[in-house]
Amino acid sequence: MLTKLLKICCTARQCTFAKPFEAMPGPRGPFGLGNLYNYMPGIGAYSWLQLHKAGQHKYEKYGSIVRETMLPGQDIVWLYDPKDIATLLNERDSPQRRSHLALARYREQRPQLYKTTGLLPTNGPDWWRLRSQLQKELSAPRSVRNFVPEVDAVTQEFLKFLEQSGAGTAIDMLPKLTRLNLELTCLLTFGARMESFAQSEQQPQSRSSRLMHAAETTNSCILPTDQGLQLWRFVETPSYRKLRRAQSYMESVALELLEQRLPGQTERASLITAYLQNPALDHSDVVGTAADLLLAGIDTTSYASAFLLYHVARHPQVQQRVYEEALKLLPDAQQPLSAEAMRTGITYTRAVLKESLRLNPISIGFGRILNQDTVLSGYFVPKGTTVVTQNMVACRQAAHFPQPLRFLPERWLTQRSALNPYLVLPFGHGMRACIARRLAEQNMHVLLLRLLRNYELIWRGTSAELDIITLLINKPNAPVLIELRLRSST
Ligand code: HEM
Repeated sequence: MLTKLLKICCTARQCTFAKPFEAMPGPRGPFGLGNLYNYMPGIGAYSWLQLHKAGQHKYEKYGSIVRETMLPGQDIVWLYDPKDIATLLNERDSPQRRSHLALARYREQRPQLYKTTGLLPTNGPDWWRLRSQLQKELSAPRSVRNFVPEVDAVTQEFLKFLEQSGAGTAIDMLPKLTRLNLELTCLLTFGARMESFAQSEQQPQSRSSRLMHAAETTNSCILPTDQGLQLWRFVETPSYRKLRRAQSYMESVALELLEQRLPGQTERASLITAYLQNPALDHSDVVGTAADLLLAGIDTTSYASAFLLYHVARHPQVQQRVYEEALKLLPDAQQPLSAEAMRTGITYTRAVLKESLRLNPISIGFGRILNQDTVLSGYFVPKGTTVVTQNMVACRQAAHFPQPLRFLPERWLTQRSALNPYLVLPFGHGMRACIARRLAEQNMHVLLLRLLRNYELIWRGTSAELDIITLLINKPNAPVLIELRLRSST
């Protein structure tokens, strides 16, 4: 009620009841010149590569809402309180994000290929025109379920690939998972196989190796180009150059795969086939979408799957329960997984993924540009401010989760109704949430069921706890070393 009242009072630039924006606690930097220096390597206490640690530090020092001045006139408000997160995400009007700015510039400079800057950086009516057309195939439960047979077949090939890579010894899972998700992203997007498990494709100069490298390079250049002085707008900085070269390669592969999908060619059903047939989308919309899906699909699911396997490998009793669920679905390990059986028969497997994403989401949170004056934690926050949620830090607080640092999938079966729905949001929330959420979850469910149906996983990592490095998305900070031991019942 009070929040509603405050909102009514804050429709104007000034707010009668809320505390002023200037009073919000948080670092402003020396002489109010900004805290950006604090992220400089060798000088500051924070690091772009460790944003979760910076987030935790600010929470402990300033509390559950923080205003950080990066440069004069450039503020970020960080939210840790689920009430504020809910207010932000339930904003009316089309939600706006301020990210992937250099990627947007790269695309603006190629109007012959791109009509818009694509789903990731675009805001406003251009974004909604694309999103409303693309999400029919990417998000609708029935079209997502149609992909189960192909995802299952590729995942079974992946298991053979792992066996060849050394079952019975510690395997560094992340590079393998990246190949799996490259394969799945290209299959679902273009109906194309990259054959990335083949020996020849594992060479550094192969198409799949270069594509994986280009996706990670682009992601790692987003934060350095989004933040700070943005000198790349005036001269080509090293980060912008890396991004441009990586994007140019990804674009050439996207165009090549798209060419093979044009009408008249023999083709599997794929997202791109459906988009090419959609009269509301033209060829340049489809090129931009193809490039976006390649960029957003590979590392996100690979990192999330790597953390999932890490948690599961360290908890044999969790593995046992997933195994029992897998055995019911696949009494014969060779039979195909049925989409219908997965709809109802994987309650525990779902809880395991949810718990892994609670502890290790692939982003620390997500950002919006406020499209109206808003009151957050009693402070007036003006329209146009960049506000970023800190879900990862909040999800690790005892105030929200009993035994917060323990991996306990059971909490999603027994205490679900007591848990705040605005904390575990690994795919974001609302109209701007991940467009491929169901697809990504489904791929990871299939992986977990197939893997645990056949193998026991044993953690062989050198550090007891795996931490993260932030490359826009959260990557494991050390090799994800897991031994696969074949079960007797395969
Ligand atoms: C575990 C896997 C994944 C996770 C955790 C994830 C997470 C996210 C998050 C947090 C956002 C921002 C949401 C927001 O601002 O509210 C997002 C946006 C997006 N994701 Fe994903 N994602 C995953 C996989 C994928 C895949 C496989 C694809 C495509 C093949 C994809 C495509 C996109 C796109 C295009 C957007 C931008 C949507 C928009 O702005 O309208 N994601 N994702």
